[in-house]
Amino acid sequence: MIENLIEEYKLKIDSRLDILNSVPGQPYDGIIDAGRYSLLAGGKRIRPIILLEFYKLCGGSDDCAYNFACAVEMIHTYSLIHDDLPCMDNDDLRRGKPSCHKKYGEGMALLAGDYLLTEAFCVCAKTLGLPHDRITKAIAYLSSSAGGAGMIGGQVVDTTVNIENEQMLLKMYSLKTCALIRAAAVCGVILAGGDDGQIECAEKYAENLGLAFQIVDDLLDIGGNQEVLGKPVGSDEKNSKITSVTLLGEDRCRALAAEYTANALAALNGFDGDSTVLKELTEMLLVRTN
Ligand code: IPE
Ligand code: IPE
Ligand code: MG
Ligand code: MG
Ligand code: MG
Repeated sequence: MIENLIEEYKLKIDSRLDILNSVPGQPYDGIIDAGRYSLLAGGKRIRPIILLEFYKLCGGSDDCAYNFACAVEMIHTYSLIHDDLPCMDNDDLRRGKPSCHKKYGEGMALLAGDYLLTEAFCVCAKTLGLPHDRITKAIAYLSSSAGGAGMIGGQVVDTTVNIENEQMLLKMYSLKTCALIRAAAVCGVILAGGDDGQIECAEKYAENLGLAFQIVDDLLDIGGNQEVLGKPVGSDEKNSKITSVTLLGEDRCRALAAEYTANALAALNGFDGDSTVLKELTEMLLVRTN
């Protein structure tokens, strides 16, 4: 059962995240507490699960990719903490709890994000049991995907550029949402020693999944249940955001999300190994309620 497998993954990821972000008993413990508050509040953990599944799909058979899986989740959580700040989306609820800045104040939330981002690369560099060239290649891919030419670039476009058409919107989503998911998939391949053809298939998968994922996120922002979602419904409207829903309408969004999901599933056929878990996860994400 895919649900049981996801639960097992979550338990293992959460316990590793807990260990990697332990409180050292120092005057700066407050920042670790604030980071842990958001990090361990839950979340679907899809990025680490995707990384670990691509690692397996390309022949990895041990726990050596867990540091990278946790690092991707730490980077993702930092992006959510900063995304919720009053100077960004100004949202008070995240993962079913008050957002980091509501609990700890804006300064600490800013620093908690900085902490998680920086520490994530230390965690990657401390990976044991894999060849160094794979580790450096994966760190390079992850850092550029999270940075200006990736997720952060997307957040900049999201908050500063007037999105006028579908092409501009999809480019923004490719940066802000697909880039980190793509890094998760590709780092799994790289760490397992996969070849360029496999990296290309992973990129194609993640690009399509990421687009479907952000479109479903936009749909949930108007039609979701806040209790289930764990974050505010109506945030995009409050911020007068141009989203897939405002630009294309709900019906076209549903059709597009299904189309991108089908493309993602097709990309998995490029692998010889068993991609059943990834396929089921991909299908689940299309009909998710949180
Ligand atoms: C939310 O990501 C931000 C988007 C890219 C839409 P998730 O929906 O994966 O958030 P968590 O990790 O489950 O909280
Ligand atoms: C954020 O997109 C994507 C990030 C890189 C954090 P959203 O602003 O739509 O994410 P939510 O809806 O707040 O989770
Ligand atoms: Mg945002
Ligand atoms: Mg937001
Ligand atoms: Mg959203």
